[in-house]
Amino acid sequence: MNGIRIKGMGMCVPSHIVTNDDLAQIVDTNDEWITTRTGIKTRHHIGADETLHDITVKAAKDALKNSGVTADQIGACIVATMTPDTIMPSAACRLQEELGLPNDIPCFDLSAACTGFLFALHTMECLLNASPRKYGLVIGAEHLSRVTNWSDRSTCILFGDGAAGAVVECREGWRSICADLGCYGDNQVLKLPGIGMKEAGQISMDGQQVFKFAVQVVPHCIDQVLSRTGYTVDEIDFFVFHQANARIIDLAAKKYNIPPEKCCKNIAEYGNTSAASIPLVLAQLYEEGKLKSKCRALLVGFGGGLTWGGALVEFV
Ligand code: COA
Repeated sequence: MNGIRIKGMGMCVPSHIVTNDDLAQIVDTNDEWITTRTGIKTRHHIGADETLHDITVKAAKDALKNSGVTADQIGACIVATMTPDTIMPSAACRLQEELGLPNDIPCFDLSAACTGFLFALHTMECLLNASPRKYGLVIGAEHLSRVTNWSDRSTCILFGDGAAGAVVECREGWRSICADLGCYGDNQVLKLPGIGMKEAGQISMDGQQVFKFAVQVVPHCIDQVLSRTGYTVDEIDFFVFHQANARIIDLAAKKYNIPPEKCCKNIAEYGNTSAASIPLVLAQLYEEGKLKSKCRALLVGFGGGLTWGGALVEFV
C-alpha cells in the first residue's frame, strides 16, 4: 500500500477561555488540584455565538491554505468526532458543502473518541489508495463542553473544545503510516450515551480505570510503531500523545527517555479535546515552523471504546 504524508495543518479553537478558578465557582475544586493531577490550566469552550461547524470550517480552510491544495483536488473527507452539531447530515458532509469539495468523493464522520484522528488517518490512507485524487482532508473536531456533566468534578475539569486537521497526500513508493489500531469493547469505564438513552448526552468516566488502561496502551503503541517502521526513539523528531493528562504523557516520556523538546504538550492550555487533541498539537508545531520536510512524528491516541492507536506520520 502507498503511504500518506502530511502536506499542511490547520486549527481553530473557540475564543472563550475557562480557567480552573472559573470551574471552582461551579464545582468543589481548585486550581492546585487540577494542575497537579492533570496539568490543565485552561480550556477553550464554544460559546453561544459559535458552533462546532464554524470552527471545523476554519480549521479545514486553514489546512487547505497552508498545504496549497485546492478543494477540487480532495479525494475524501473524514471528520473524527463524537460531538457533531447534527448526527445527520454528518459534519463531513456539511464541510463538503461549505468548502465546495467534489461531489464524487466519500465524506463521513468517524467515531472512535480520543483515538478518532488515528483511525481517520489510517482510513484515509486506505481510501486514497483507491482514489484517482491524491489528497485527503482529515479533521478532528469536538464540542465536549456540550456533553460535559457539570455536576461531576472529576470529569468537568478535563474537557475542552477545538478543531484541527491535516491535508494529506498519497504517493506511490511512500511508506505507509504503519498504523497500529485496536479496540477493547467496554461499556462501563468511559461512555457518552446517545439520544433516548439513560443519561443521554453526558460523558461519564472511571478515571482510575482509564488511567491504568492509558499507561499500558501508550507503551504498547510506541513499541508497535517503532517495530513496524524500524526507527529508534532517537530517529523520531516529535512524539505526539493524546492530551488526556500530563502525568500520562510524562510517564511515557520518562520510560522512553524522550527529551522534553520532542515530547509535545498543549494540555495546559486546551485540556482534553478528544479527537481534536493530536491534530491540535501537530497544528501548533506546524504554525511554529517546526514540522520541516521529511520530519517524523510518532502519534499515540487512546480513549473511549476502549480504543487505541499509534502511527508514524512524515511531512511532505
Ligand atoms: N477537585 C478536587 N478533588 C477532586 C476532583 C476535583 N476536580 N476530582 C476528584 N477529586 C477527588 C475525588 O473525589 C477523590 O477524593 P476522595 O479521596 O476523598 O474520595 C480524590 O480527588 C482522588 O480522586 P481520583 O479519581 O482517585 O483522582 P485521580 O488522581 O485518579 O485523578 C483523573 C482523576 C480523572 C484526573 C485521572 O484519573 C485521569 O486523568 N484519568 C485518565 C483520564 C483519561 O486518560 N481520559 C482519556 C480518555 S478521554
